[in-house]
Amino acid sequence: MTLPPLISLLPVLTVFSLLCAVSPVLGWRPWPHLRPNSSDLLYAGSKKFEGSSEFVRLRYHMGPVLTANIAVHTIWYGTWQKSQKKIIREFISSISTVRSTHPSVAGWWKTVQLYTDQTGANISRNVRLGEEKNDRFYSHGKSLTRLSIQSVIKSAVTARSKPLPINPKSGLYLLLTSDDVYVQDFCGQVCGFHYFTFPAIVGYTLPYAWVGNSAKLCPGVCAYPFAVPDYIPGLKPRKSPNGDVGVDGMISVIGHEIAELATNPLVNAWYAGQDPTSPVEIADLCEGIYGTGGGGSYTGQLLEGHDGATYNMNGIRRRYLVQWLWNHVVSYCTGPNALDQ
Ligand SMILES: *[C@@H]1O[C@H](CO)[C@@H](O)[C@H](O)[C@H]1NC(C)=O
Ligand SMILES: *[C@@H]1O[C@H](CO)[C@@H](O)[C@H](O)[C@H]1NC(C)=O
Repeated sequence: MTLPPLISLLPVLTVFSLLCAVSPVLGWRPWPHLRPNSSDLLYAGSKKFEGSSEFVRLRYHMGPVLTANIAVHTIWYGTWQKSQKKIIREFISSISTVRSTHPSVAGWWKTVQLYTDQTGANISRNVRLGEEKNDRFYSHGKSLTRLSIQSVIKSAVTARSKPLPINPKSGLYLLLTSDDVYVQDFCGQVCGFHYFTFPAIVGYTLPYAWVGNSAKLCPGVCAYPFAVPDYIPGLKPRKSPNGDVGVDGMISVIGHEIAELATNPLVNAWYAGQDPTSPVEIADLCEGIYGTGGGGSYTGQLLEGHDGATYNMNGIRRRYLVQWLWNHVVSYCTGPNALDQ
């Protein structure tokens, strides 16, 4: 979700649905709640746990969730360095590994596994890297709309050589755009979003997400806290754990979108709010919260490496900073680096 997080739970939703009446999509930005007053209202007083709020009514709307082994098929749009791809691939591979140390990305996914479908089946613990497709030459230009994104996906699944597999039940399609590509509403409103493809455009209904590298366009918005917005004087950026501000910033957005795709792939499963065209989903509820005490304008307790880098969880070989997720069993945001668990 794109509006300043906490107020977006309430009536402001309407504003957003007007903004995207054409094709409802779900995006967000990784901000802590920088708008002073709105969040203070909600968090004032007796907040016991991160994000806890009596206003949240996350409900299951009977649609499918991803209970089978999940494959993440990636489309690299534009110019990507090998080193950048590695950081992202290893993050995805870390979701299901048993080989990383606590607090881990796999521990973070446990919150997602708490969600079930109508048969009581939990979301799969297995998330693996699927096939990949390079779109090196910007097949649809350097400025994409929400509809042209679907055409990019169509090209990838219908390519003559090595098309991405069609995998509507357990495939997630992740379109990643390089730092010289603008996508509709990027920076101003969203850093990423997820939805599903339309059969009329792509030929299939496939759950997909887009996440952009904001390094050139708006790192202070989409790669926070590794970059900070200009208008906040005196706020220092944190050192990113993998030496790439844009990509390290994408990781939390990718995590956000994959968690929501798994629990709400066709936007008829797990979400809060009355309006299905602008649902508030499990990651939206915890925007800007990365550790214990998070909320308001505070990210929560983070970890700092010997090298001074900021992170909150371990992957297979690398460290990552990833936002927490809503846990509907306890009704607050949880993450592997919680101090009180
Ligand atoms: C919040 O609202 C108060 C008045 O209610 C105003 O004085 C203030 O500038 C606003 N911002 C902050 C940071 O409190
Ligand atoms: C499956 O979901 C239920 C209900 O949220 C939960 O109690 C259980 O621990 C979950 N199982 C796993 C393996 O996460």
